[in-house]
Amino acid sequence: MRRCRLMVEVGRRQFLRGTVGTATAAAAAATVGGGARAATPRGGVVPDYPRIRLANVRDLVVDEPLEVTYPDADAPGVLLKLGRRVPGGVGPDGDIVGFTTVCPHKGYPLHYVREERTLDCPGHFSRFDVEAGGQQVWGHATMNLPQYELRVDEKGDIWAVGLDELLYGRVSNVLG
Ligand code: FES
Repeated sequence: MRRCRLMVEVGRRQFLRGTVGTATAAAAAATVGGGARAATPRGGVVPDYPRIRLANVRDLVVDEPLEVTYPDADAPGVLLKLGRRVPGGVGPDGDIVGFTTVCPHKGYPLHYVREERTLDCPGHFSRFDVEAGGQQVWGHATMNLPQYELRVDEKGDIWAVGLDELLYGRVSNVLG
């Protein structure tokens, strides 16, 4: 979202990433001695995320959302090719990102607004900047939009391997 560029340069996500790094390092240190699993920022446990093929880079067109699900069929999301390199972007151009399309406020379905590069909520009008890692830029939500951790293999297949925030309505992103 271009007009909010300055607002998101040092956003909450960057702060949280720093927190995650600290927490992960602490958990890793704990693992050496006691076999503990990595802690999340919320004090939970990092689930064992599935590695799921979502698409191939050839399937994506700039600004044309591709509907997907991750980490299971009940978790709708979207892959986006943005046409310019962005933080967290993967693929040959570093411009492919993926997000849940369930609003973290109260679970309304989000839709993509290509002119603003946001995922917008019709419920209470929260907006999330897909060029800035899902940073919330407007509305009632109190967290950023969960973003997929993606990998691209030598064939151009796009794999989801994790999420960076808790999905709406879940106690764990991976249900047992
Ligand atoms: S459900 Fe999206 S802002 Fe409330």
